[in-house]
Amino acid sequence: MAAELPIPIFTSLDKAFPDVETAAAQGVRFNAVVEEYQKRFGHKPSYIARAPGRVNLIGEHIDYVLFGCFPAAIERDILIACGPSVPGSGTSTPSAHPPGGVKAENLDPKYKPQSFVPMLKSANGPSAAEEADAASNVHAETAWHLDIDKRELRWESYVKAGYYGVLNRFFASTSEHPAPADLLVTGSVPSGSGLSSSAAMVVASTLAFMAVNNKLDGVTKGQLVEMAMENEKRVGVNSGGLDQAASVICTPHSAIFVDFFPRLSAEPIPLPTPRTIPRAVFVCANSLVVSDKVVSAKIHYNLRVVETLVAARVLALRLGQSLGPTERPRLREVFSRWLGSPELESSPEKVKQGLERFLPEIEKLRPAPEGRKAGELGVTMKEMVEWSGLSEEQFHQVYLSWVDVEAEYFQLYKRTKHVITEAIRVLEFRAVCLAAQAAPDPLPESTLAQLGALMNASHESCATLCESSCPEVDRLAALARASGAYGCRITGAGWGGCTVSLVAEDKVEEFIAKVKEGYEPYRALEGEKLREVIFATKPSSGAFVLKLDP
Ligand code: GLA
Repeated sequence: MAAELPIPIFTSLDKAFPDVETAAAQGVRFNAVVEEYQKRFGHKPSYIARAPGRVNLIGEHIDYVLFGCFPAAIERDILIACGPSVPGSGTSTPSAHPPGGVKAENLDPKYKPQSFVPMLKSANGPSAAEEADAASNVHAETAWHLDIDKRELRWESYVKAGYYGVLNRFFASTSEHPAPADLLVTGSVPSGSGLSSSAAMVVASTLAFMAVNNKLDGVTKGQLVEMAMENEKRVGVNSGGLDQAASVICTPHSAIFVDFFPRLSAEPIPLPTPRTIPRAVFVCANSLVVSDKVVSAKIHYNLRVVETLVAARVLALRLGQSLGPTERPRLREVFSRWLGSPELESSPEKVKQGLERFLPEIEKLRPAPEGRKAGELGVTMKEMVEWSGLSEEQFHQVYLSWVDVEAEYFQLYKRTKHVITEAIRVLEFRAVCLAAQAAPDPLPESTLAQLGALMNASHESCATLCESSCPEVDRLAALARASGAYGCRITGAGWGGCTVSLVAEDKVEEFIAKVKEGYEPYRALEGEKLREVIFATKPSSGAFVLKLDP
């Protein structure tokens, strides 16, 4: 239901942020960006598109195999002030703004101003750039083209990714031209920290270009999530929909249980923490190990995507499911076929029971120890091809032709074990939150202990089975637990980035002081610098557009 709601368009910030304090603080930022926009472009912006980052409370590396996750939006966000360009005003001249041409600037001076013009695909076949896109499985069918260099991490790539989707959804089969636009971007989500700065950028950019071109009407939050997911793939990562769903669908005071099968759905679930004794909050702590999932995709993120896809095929075959040579089911689909009846997954409780019964089946992926070094549970490329029942050529076509990955051993068993146990933990987390909602006030501390235990188990699984953590994050998580957190886990793609801890509200200061003392990279940080890297966060509102007075 939450995914079917329209995208919120507000005309004042108090509607967007029901909490007075947040509305006042955000008001200062919104005004500053409007003022700066006017200075730079010589005219007022028409809209501000805003998209928050997210903290994933539990459910890591399972969205792209279509299992549900449990994120909340955070207060940190991306703002894009935008409007149609006005020829002759500011630095803009008519020639600088051909149809659909964009001038994009960033308030952070380290990101240089950019201008770009989308091109219509020629009728004589694809350009070299389009062929390169096709080779990497990116939307060769599209009618509009924008150069996005996937080998280099550039801030404007995320702006272009959002624009690309808008062009091809709204301007592909029409003679209407996109409006030239001026954009000013600012953000408070630290990049490469696992709090989803990239999804926030792509969601905000998609919204900004829809707003400038009057295309917001009738588009639901679910449709925006799907567009933003497609759009972000253009930057080179085959991510699932967790970040985009959280950024778009979340509401203040709640997390969401977001599921991707059989289709995108989201259920706001109030967190029990305000009703527990003691009250508790979530604290994000940045390990300061910057991990950009685009840069390391072939040995980390995209490799996990391929490992879980191949695991799904092999498991399906070993469970006796028949598969065509080009079929590429995800683990959720294999599980669903194994269950055999939609009735058995008609509620999250039933899915959980089904997963518990399914768990022993994944032993079918465990490689025999013979001829393998002790403890090695991975398989070589050659074995993987054999196990898949495909020829080398078919295997390459289905699993590798669209993505670049690199590994000596592919961990089909470990990744699948992570996925299934993590999917169960998400459903348990959801059940604890819902049981708490129905229970009388106030709730006992054991509710927090239950949530914390699930978070700890999730971290352990990320570290040992998914292998998406790193020594610094493991250290930070252990330190958080030793400093009084009920539970702590890595959040987001991993290999660096942030942890999220559940902490008693009245102990937050003491908790932060202990972590600061124990985590070497924090020792020299004080005041705002420290608040940048470790902070308590409340579930915030999802993406919206603020319409400004002309
Ligand atoms: C990144 C991706 C998400 C999700 C997480 C890991 O944030 O963008 O889709 O896969 O990693 O849970």
